[in-house]
Amino acid sequence: MKLLRGKLPLPIIITTTCALFFIAVLYAGRLSFLSSSSIFKFKTCPRKHNKPKSNERKVEDVLVNASWNDDRFDFDPEECNLANGKWVFNHSIRPLYSDTSCPYIDRQYSCVKNGREDSDYLHWEWQPEDCTFPQFNPELALKKLQGKRLLFVGDSLQRNQWESFVCLVQSIIPEKEKSMKRGRIHSVFKAKEYNATIEFYWAPFLVESNTDIRIIGDPKKRIIKVDEITERAKNWTGVDILVFNTYVWWMSGLRVNALWGSFANGEQGYEELDTPVAYKLGLRTWANWVDSTINPNKTRVFFTTMSPAHTKSADWGNKDGVKCFNETMPVKKKNHWGSGSNKGMMSVLAKVVKKMKVPVTVINITQISEYRIDGHSSVYTETGGKMLTQEERANPLNADCIHWCLPGVPDTWNQIFLAML
Ligand SMILES: *[C@@H]1O[C@H](CO)[C@@H](O)[C@H](O)[C@H]1NC(C)=O
Ligand SMILES: *[C@@H]1O[C@H](CO)[C@@H](O)[C@H](O)[C@H]1NC(C)=O
Ligand SMILES: *[C@@H]1O[C@H](CO)[C@@H](O)[C@H](O)[C@H]1NC(C)=O
Ligand SMILES: *[C@@H]1O[C@H](CO)[C@@H](O)[C@H](O)[C@H]1NC(C)=O
Ligand SMILES: *[C@@H]1O[C@H](CO)[C@@H](O)[C@H](O)[C@H]1NC(C)=O
Ligand SMILES: *[C@@H]1O[C@H](CO)[C@@H](O)[C@H](O)[C@H]1NC(C)=O
Ligand SMILES: *[C@@H]1O[C@H](CO)[C@@H](O)[C@H](O)[C@H]1NC(C)=O
Repeated sequence: MKLLRGKLPLPIIITTTCALFFIAVLYAGRLSFLSSSSIFKFKTCPRKHNKPKSNERKVEDVLVNASWNDDRFDFDPEECNLANGKWVFNHSIRPLYSDTSCPYIDRQYSCVKNGREDSDYLHWEWQPEDCTFPQFNPELALKKLQGKRLLFVGDSLQRNQWESFVCLVQSIIPEKEKSMKRGRIHSVFKAKEYNATIEFYWAPFLVESNTDIRIIGDPKKRIIKVDEITERAKNWTGVDILVFNTYVWWMSGLRVNALWGSFANGEQGYEELDTPVAYKLGLRTWANWVDSTINPNKTRVFFTTMSPAHTKSADWGNKDGVKCFNETMPVKKKNHWGSGSNKGMMSVLAKVVKKMKVPVTVINITQISEYRIDGHSSVYTETGGKMLTQEERANPLNADCIHWCLPGVPDTWNQIFLAML
């Protein structure tokens, strides 16, 4: 090599060396070079030369581009299965907000304020295997919402997602250009200079029930009116982008009390139904309302799939654990799926959506969230408006393994949502 160096042009030497390295890698059986991480291996190639020259850089860039292009296509929701991927730890990732910089986060999700000290859970990035995944860009989000109303409708996990969305965009809006009005049922965040609103409407079953407004603690006394939606849904019209969810409230037992039609004896006319059956009736009521009311040329409709609860640590092989208490790392096992996400309920949703006239875009968060046992509010939460005391926090049974810390996992849900918007 030393002899040739004087005669041959440098680019040829580099190309040859790289090619040899390439072959060496191949024959060493490291076929994993096709994976995206290969770019880091190739980067070492030009370093083999003693004196880096400016044109070496070009070779490196070409290789970087080539390997990315071979590997992953640009994000396209029709073609890329986002659920197929992995969480990658990267300490230099910084969330776009914190629970002190964003004033709109419920105490229930303000984990750092509530005393959470470990911070690794803030530095994981979802990487789909088959495509690139654009970062959440607040400017782009607000541009897409210019002159529009975005309304999230659903339960407290939907509120988790709504607050995440507001926090992701609010930091680039000057103080006097934004406002928040919170109500028990309906809350509205306004971005004045964009003439945009980002709203939340509380409807835990989507359809009506006797436990929406005054929550009934005993699930046996809850009655879901599986065919009633029209009255409340009047407040969901005239919106440009609708995002729905409903799941966790149905999961209080194997059966739920459902009421439909009108009975002379009023609420006493309810019947116990298997949960998936009642869920199907409720979702069909919702679907009929969408199909008969929404003009798909004016309004886009999304549905966020179930957010997994992590209340059985045996699901991820932690036999001595209690719920998600003290978990600080995501589950590594590919396709991990625990008992907190019911596949039967998922297929009910898939079937209902498939039959609808109005296209509904599914924001499928279930698989990616299944891995994140470390992301829940856990004991860094509140009860009755007060954060848990030191002693209460020491008791794993107090852990909330349903809701998520903000910043945190719902930011990735919104990254998916924005990419599909
Ligand atoms: C990749 O290709 C683009 C043009 O297609 C170029 O602008 C860029 O510098 C190349 N290198 C890298 C590392 O992206
Ligand atoms: C980690 O994140 C930073 C900031 O987003 C990015 O520049 C860097 O490329 C990432 N590193 C890896 C190994 O992905
Ligand atoms: C603001 O947006 C609403 C729809 O949300 C629209 O009706 C109204 O005309 C817009 N106003 C301006 C000044 O653009
Ligand atoms: C829903 O809309 C009705 C009018 O259709 C209004 O009276 C009511 O206050 C609205 N409810 C909420 C929570 O916004
Ligand atoms: C939506 O737009 C298409 C094409 O412009 C039109 O054919 C269709 O009738 C519209 N649908 C409704 C419900 O307005
Ligand atoms: C939970 O984690 C804390 C801090 O890492 C540790 O002090 C405590 O012993 C752990 N508790 C249990 C029950 O594992
Ligand atoms: C969501 O993704 C999972 C796989 O991760 C799939 O089994 C399920 O059918 C999807 N749900 C819907 C409603 O498309």
